[in-house]
Amino acid sequence: MAGDDSLFAISEGHLDTGMRGIPVGTCRTSYVDPIEGVHYVGYPVGDLANLEEEDVIYLLLHKQLPNTEESEAFRAELTHRAEEIPTGALRVLESLTPGSGHPMDWLAIGIMALGAADTHARRPGNARSDAMNLIARMPELMARLFLLRGGRPEDLKPRKPELGLVENFVHMLGVEGEEAERMNRVLRFFFILHMDHGGGNLSTFSGKAVASGRASIYASIASAMNALSGPLHGRANQACLEFVQRIGTSDHDEIEAFVRSELAARRPIYGFGHGVLRAEDPRAALLIGLGGEICPDDENFRIVTALREVVPPILKEKPKISNPYPNVDLASGSLLHSVGFRKPDYFTTFFGWARVAGICAQILDERDSREGRGVPIYRPKYIAREQPHRRLE
Ligand code: MLT
Repeated sequence: MAGDDSLFAISEGHLDTGMRGIPVGTCRTSYVDPIEGVHYVGYPVGDLANLEEEDVIYLLLHKQLPNTEESEAFRAELTHRAEEIPTGALRVLESLTPGSGHPMDWLAIGIMALGAADTHARRPGNARSDAMNLIARMPELMARLFLLRGGRPEDLKPRKPELGLVENFVHMLGVEGEEAERMNRVLRFFFILHMDHGGGNLSTFSGKAVASGRASIYASIASAMNALSGPLHGRANQACLEFVQRIGTSDHDEIEAFVRSELAARRPIYGFGHGVLRAEDPRAALLIGLGGEICPDDENFRIVTALREVVPPILKEKPKISNPYPNVDLASGSLLHSVGFRKPDYFTTFFGWARVAGICAQILDERDSREGRGVPIYRPKYIAREQPHRRLE
């Protein structure tokens, strides 16, 4: 492909369509094949789902999986950076009223607080160090967010970053034994599947847009989290479990009747469809596979597996629906709920936590591109509408 080959012909009809399918940049961390789904640096995500989360983060940052020495050195660096969290960096969360706002508000506030405390964020050229600090300190932010907003600050356990990112979070929540093992298994799997999803999903695009103005990593990621908090994006996993709980039965006929009445009322069928995918999201299949292993008899999970069978044929009756198949949100909430996370409004914070690594890797790639000059500040063009030229008399 030569530099000036036309990639895409933009016409009037493409305007105001959310830039859907319009190529605007390159991505070196992942791509989303409409049929086979997301690949991380070429690997189908299913190949990576049972690895250590730190090794997959290393892959996104370094474009190859680490060998043993590299893996140990990377984990040691994360452990060191987690321990170096400035004292009181997250004290701002204590000033928020327990139960107030949405957990995604707390997440964005916490990320900005880590940035404000991370003094050298003001010195340009520390993007990689800031990204590594944020990735390393997210487990503590998440644990404090869960316990402070949940009104149980006294349950917080001292950090143990050497355990690993997910394991440290579960430990700081005060969860131990078999319950901790189940949580670690589901969270690690969920974490790896949600780290990255191409260059153009809204949270990633928003984070990169802010970063293109050379804002700090913290400001860029906080912006990405705010983008993720929308019900059409990350908050869909919360809405999906609430949808499953509203259905409350795994009887196929009752589900069909419910889905048809929702469609007639023009209400969304959560857990289905996607802007790029045109087949079942492999992340959904992987999560349902894990659910079959760890919570086959869980009531929510049984409804999820029934929905997977009942819904696509119904949606296929509607020619306007380009993708009638399950997406990643269909099963994720039921698995989180089955291992002890009972409040769906916290589910999007897990999505956000996982996505921090992917967005940081993409920002660093854009900063390093063009022989280090980096991608210029984003400045897409908008066509003027309903603005007849006029002057003040
Ligand atoms: C994601 O993982 O970001 C979602 O599937 C949305 C998207 O890819 O646009």
